Amino acid sequence: NLGIAITGSGSAVPAAFLDNQALTELVETSDDWITTRTGIRQRRLAKPDESLTDLAVAASHQAIAMAKINPQDLDLILLATSTPDDLFGTACRIQAALGATRAVAFDLTAACSGFVFGLVTAAQYIRTGVYQNVLLIGADILSRWVDWKDRSTCVLFGDGAGAIVMQANETDGLLGFELRSDGTQNNCLNLAYQGSNLDLTQGVSVGKGSFTPISMNGKEVYRFAVQKVPEVIDKALFRADLSVDDIDWLLLHQANQRILDAVANRMNIPPEKVLSNLANYGNTSAASIPLALNEAVRQGKIKPSDIIAASGFGAGLTWGAAIFRW
Ligand code: ACO
Repeated sequence: NLGIAITGSGSAVPAAFLDNQALTELVETSDDWITTRTGIRQRRLAKPDESLTDLAVAASHQAIAMAKINPQDLDLILLATSTPDDLFGTACRIQAALGATRAVAFDLTAACSGFVFGLVTAAQYIRTGVYQNVLLIGADILSRWVDWKDRSTCVLFGDGAGAIVMQANETDGLLGFELRSDGTQNNCLNLAYQGSNLDLTQGVSVGKGSFTPISMNGKEVYRFAVQKVPEVIDKALFRADLSVDDIDWLLLHQANQRILDAVANRMNIPPEKVLSNLANYGNTSAASIPLALNEAVRQGKIKPSDIIAASGFGAGLTWGAAIFRW
């Protein structure tokens, strides 16, 4: 079996930003409430003519350049997203825009766990020798699906994209992983189709259904994350035959600073090992892990051979951890 090396990373966010002060004009909230409860200070928001494909392609170009390969070398493009430009799939649009003519391309949805689930999925294709060069993208534009009148959710999210290139390699950089799902708690966090009253005796109704904006039980999600994320990281570390002390960087889905702090605290991981950029971007869902990864790599924080414990958690419910070497 072959191993995996992560050889490139990239990220892109919209230019336009909305800070907490500006949000107070939309809903009854305050900079103080948002900052103390979440750690978020501003978020980037896509303009109407900015697409998920645009952000994903910009992030991908950076990752491909760092990996020193050509788009034509790619065998597989995996797009982790819950907010595609096209519900039939957006990975093919990215494939076309990149000119990655050889690549198989498809979308994968696991909400805020999408990037970790995608990383593990990509790794299976590489380990079995099926594909050698994979582009994995995590991208979301949640601002289009949030109710901007609902202060309990609209203050949390932002838009962005991150990408990595994963390549077949003699030594394996994916040291351990663990993925979990619990559909019995699906109603904690939803972005769901609200069915039309389809009555076949009356003929098929077209376009009558609608999506309800994101709905969330914040307290339940908080409790779930703080309990389940340490468990799943521990399990992935066990599979990697590593201990918490071996981790150079804790790279959690950037949902909320209090969740980051609580998980690090429970695991006895010192704050200086915890990567956090959510103050600037909010919760960018599937993009948050590769966005924080790419920033830390380009800032020179993450160095070659560093061991990273990444964990995503969110709707589904889904959660998972991957321990990998940069
Ligand atoms: N501004 C001001 N007040 C607010 C706001 C706001 N933006 N939102 C809610 N409030 C009010 C509530 O109405 C409530 O008022 P009340 O006491 O008069 O009823 C009060 O603040 C407390 O609300 P809670 O929901 O109890 O606040 P809590 O301390 O639980 O914090 C938060 C809410 C920040 C959402 C927290 O529950 C949390 O972090 N949960 C995790 C959510 C999360 O990270 N989700 C995303 C992860 S999954 C994914 O990424 C898709």
